[in-house]
Amino acid sequence: MSALSSVSGDTRELPFPDWMRAVQTRIEATLSRLLPAAEAIPARLHQAMRYASLGGGKRVRPLLAFAAGELSNGAPEKLEIVSCAVELIHAYSLVHDDLPCMDDDVLRRGRPTCHVEYDEPTALLVGDSLQSLAFELLAREQLGNPECQLEMLRLLTHASGSRGMAGGQAIDLDAVGRSLDQPELELMHALKTGALIRAALMLGALCGEPLAGKAGEALDRYAKRAGLLFQVVDDILDCTASTATLGKTAGKDAAAEKPTYVSLMGLHNAREFAAELRAQALESLAIFGERGRRLIELTDFITHRKF
Ligand code: IPE
Ligand code: IPE
Ligand code: MG
Ligand code: MG
Ligand code: MG
Repeated sequence: MSALSSVSGDTRELPFPDWMRAVQTRIEATLSRLLPAAEAIPARLHQAMRYASLGGGKRVRPLLAFAAGELSNGAPEKLEIVSCAVELIHAYSLVHDDLPCMDDDVLRRGRPTCHVEYDEPTALLVGDSLQSLAFELLAREQLGNPECQLEMLRLLTHASGSRGMAGGQAIDLDAVGRSLDQPELELMHALKTGALIRAALMLGALCGEPLAGKAGEALDRYAKRAGLLFQVVDDILDCTASTATLGKTAGKDAAAEKPTYVSLMGLHNAREFAAELRAQALESLAIFGERGRRLIELTDFITHRKF
């Protein structure tokens, strides 16, 4: 059975918005099942972990994993687990990103940020615990042969650490008030956002048969373009969308003097650059033909999203 056909019944023919909702619903339910129960001791920490992970978010990384699973005929029950592992790392990164010592944000996904709703020490521990749970899932669940499962763990640990997301966040903090040139900015974005997006795609593909010949390289090329595209659009939305639409405080990047693609090249050129990245990303998918349809649709969603 293909990944799409079993997201919830046969979803292969579903229009993109319906397919997206089916994956989002499935991820919400699986996360809820995998997270510790709200009343389990220590209850306050478990409640805060659920608060930070459930009931919001576009679930772009799980959507990318499911779409990549379509390329390799990935098993849905495996895709569901790897998607949740990546999403837990993402949720942890947002909780820490919002802390006063980092971006100091009070609004996330239309609600008070984790440290505002709970407190800073709890938010710190929420991040720690979500991260551990993500790796526990990859080590514990049946996801393939031992080598494949170890490769999944290796990919996600690398993407999360100092040579991935956390490293990108370090560059981001260090760059406040300074201007970066384009290669420096590209590296920062590739690490802080691109690494997890690439991991989602690679883990999704690993849930099925190995990608033959040039297909693996093509997916990797796609991942790099799509990851950068995702953050360039985030930069654009920060200065063009409203707080109500974003569900997070608009205009924060300029206020905090963060280097972004908008500060580097201006809004018009940043939009052109996003269009160029979209075209490059789509080009990498050509090799997959019809199997790449959901990734093509997702690329357009990432490009044209409103939040
Ligand atoms: C926000 O990510 C942080 C970035 C890496 C730009 P998303 O835009 O995927 O956030 P949610 O999960 O939908 O809230
Ligand atoms: C966040 O980048 C990247 C990570 C959380 C790793 P941003 O700081 O731009 O994300 P938002 O805009 O707060 O969602
Ligand atoms: Mg940040
Ligand atoms: Mg932020
Ligand atoms: Mg941002």
